[in-house]
Order: sequence, then C-alpha cells, then structure tokens
Amino acid sequence: MIELTEVTKRFGGTTAPAVDRLTLTVADGEVVVLVGPSGCGKTTTLKMINRLIEPTSGTISIDGVDVTGLEPHELRRGIGYVIQQIGLFPHRTVRENIATVPRLLGWDRARIERRVRELAETTDLGDDMLDRYPSELSGGQRQRVGVARALAADPPILLMDEPFGAVDPIVRAKLQDELLELQRRLRKTIVLVTHDIDEAIKLGDRVAILSVGGHLEQYAPPEELLRAPANDFVADFLGSDRGIKRLSLIRIADIDLEPGPVVPPGTDVDRARAVMAGYDTDWVAVVDGDRMLGWVTNDGLDGRSTIDGVDLEPFVTRLTPNNTLEEALDAAISSHTAIAAVFDGERFLGMITVERISREIVR
Ligand SMILES: Nc1ncnc2c1ncn2[C@@H]1O[C@H](COP(=O)(O)OP(=O)(O)OP(=O)(O)O)[C@@H](O)[C@H]1O
Ligand SMILES: [Mg+2]
Repeated sequence: MIELTEVTKRFGGTTAPAVDRLTLTVADGEVVVLVGPSGCGKTTTLKMINRLIEPTSGTISIDGVDVTGLEPHELRRGIGYVIQQIGLFPHRTVRENIATVPRLLGWDRARIERRVRELAETTDLGDDMLDRYPSELSGGQRQRVGVARALAADPPILLMDEPFGAVDPIVRAKLQDELLELQRRLRKTIVLVTHDIDEAIKLGDRVAILSVGGHLEQYAPPEELLRAPANDFVADFLGSDRGIKRLSLIRIADIDLEPGPVVPPGTDVDRARAVMAGYDTDWVAVVDGDRMLGWVTNDGLDGRSTIDGVDLEPFVTRLTPNNTLEEALDAAISSHTAIAAVFDGERFLGMITVERISREIVR
C-alpha cells in the first residue's frame, strides 16, 4: 500500500506549491489514476513516490515504511516507472531498453534474455523488433516497450506517466485494453497519470481529480465521481455528458430487466395485441419457458386466432449480461423498436428499453 500524507512540494524560486498537502492512499493491487489539467502536479506527485523529487513536507510510505528512510536505488527496484513521453534510450535497441533494470541488478545474460522474450510476448512485441532502435518503431510499439521496460524486474508497483499519450485514439484504446488485461493477470499496484478523463474512467479503480496547485478535488471510484461530483470543478472536468459516461460503467447484469412484450405459445391474438399495447410496441415476441422463439409484427397477426403458426423473425441484436448499458443503449436505439433482447447463451433473460436505461442516467 502507498500512503501519501499531507505531501507538499514547493520548487525553489516559486511562490505557489506544485503539490499542496496531498493525502492519498493506494491499496495493493489497485489502479489509481491521477487526472487534472496541465501543470496541476501529476508528474511531480509520481516522482515524489519514487523519490526522483523530494517532498518539501509531508510523508510518503510504502507498506508502512517511510520512503525517505530508504536508499533511492533500493526503493526504485520495487517500482517500475513509465516516463512521460516514453523516454526510451534512443541509442539502445529495444532489447537493451527492456533489459535496463535487470542489468542494473546484475542478472546473468541468460536470465535477462529469457525475461526480455517473456516481456516481448506479454506486451505483444514481435521478436523481430528486439534488435531495432526506438526510432524504427511506431508510436504504439514504443509505448509497449516503455511498459515492458517498467515491468522488467517484476516490481510490485508501477508508476505510469501518460503512458499512452503519444498515440492515436484507436491504438490508445487497444493499449488501454491490453493494460487492463495485463493487470488482471499481474495484479500490480499502479498509479497512472493522464489528462484524459475518459482514460481515467476506463482504467481507474479509483480516480483522483487534481486542480492546479496540486489540490485534490475528489478521490473516488469512477462510478461515484460521475454520480456525485464533489464540486463544480469536478463536474466541469467530467464534462456535461457524465450521465452517458456512467452507462459505460454499469453492466446489464447490474440492473433488473423487464420481461418486455412477450407471450407464451398458444396465446390468442387479442391477448397478444393487449400485451403490445401495454408496451406501446407494434410487435410481440413468443417465449417458451426461457427459449426465445422470435417476434412478429401486429400486421403479421391479421387473420389469425392464436400466435401459433405465424412466421417469427429472429432477434438479430443479442445482448449479454456482460454488455454495458452504453452498448445496450446503442443496440436499443439502432433497433427501431427501442428495445433490445438479453440472452445468456440460448437462455432468454429479458428486454432492455431506452426508457429503462435513461432511468439509470438520471439516478
Ligand atoms: N523543476 C521544477 N522547477 C520549478 N517548477 C517546476 C519544476 N517541475 C515542475 N514545476 C512546476 O510544477 C507544476 C506542476 O508540474 P507537473 O510536471 O507536476 O505538472 P503535470 O500535472 O504533470 O502537468 P502535465 O499534464 O503538463 O504533464 C507546474 O507549474 C510546473 O511548472
Ligand atoms: Mg506531467
């Protein structure tokens, strides 16, 4: 666990502090994201944790041990650091870059080579890249090398300063997914800096929102930030679409589904039409137990007495409990019915409507 208590940093020759009495704890295995405008003290905070910058006052401890009492080299052995702007050594190959810390630790060559190959695989860098120089890689590949280098000595703590800052949104999203996947397996304690609130919401178990001067405005899980911003600064920073953003954090499994306009086999047409009217739709679905047989429009029932024997259409868009409400909203509004069906494998679980989703937004 990392604990910052009343940490202040004043740089020489400046009046206002860069970080002002910051108190923050990071639990083991947790991803904490520091987010805020340029110059609000994010990099300074990270660098105080591994003592590249010494605090002016306050204490920082790791697992209960005050870091100022530790030899800096000793301390940094247990902390991987991904530097803002990646900071690879340009005149060293990818292999040499990744091997930086193991070399400092005096590992033998065979062990270093094994570790480099392992990390190249973990971070999805092809073996053919290991002998290239950073300038011969794409931005996204360079970012991966930065992450691989930080992971090299298997430190329990990772500090990442804008690790995905220099790439386009598509590569960025891919690297973010990779980091989440990596974290599921490795369970590091990660402090990550970004100025991108969407990245913070996606990656953080908890998010610290800082304002200029290193003031902590709010520290909470993303869902709580979006639901209950502490003040106007936080609300502005989250953006006017924070209700919509929250939808990406809620899974269908988290909410109650409605049965929707469904009837069992054998239902007579008047009854089926009454169910449609109840849901204000012009179609009805036929469900046998938990098996969805398909749906039919109101017109398709003309001249029939019961629902049996009519031609049923299949549901093309099938959501699962693991989909987010954002994905559900997208599915529901793209189906002209404004309703999407949820399945667990072949089992029909219920329907989700735009109206039901909007109730989650205003909550
Ligand atoms: N060595 C230094 N000497 C004096 N002032 C500094 C020094 N390093 C940083 N600062 C100042 O401290 C403040 C915080 O800087 P910091 O690099 O922590 O910001 P940041 O939140 O990481 O910003 P960005 O998003 O632009 O990277 C800034 O006003 C910066 O100018
Ligand atoms: Mg910075």
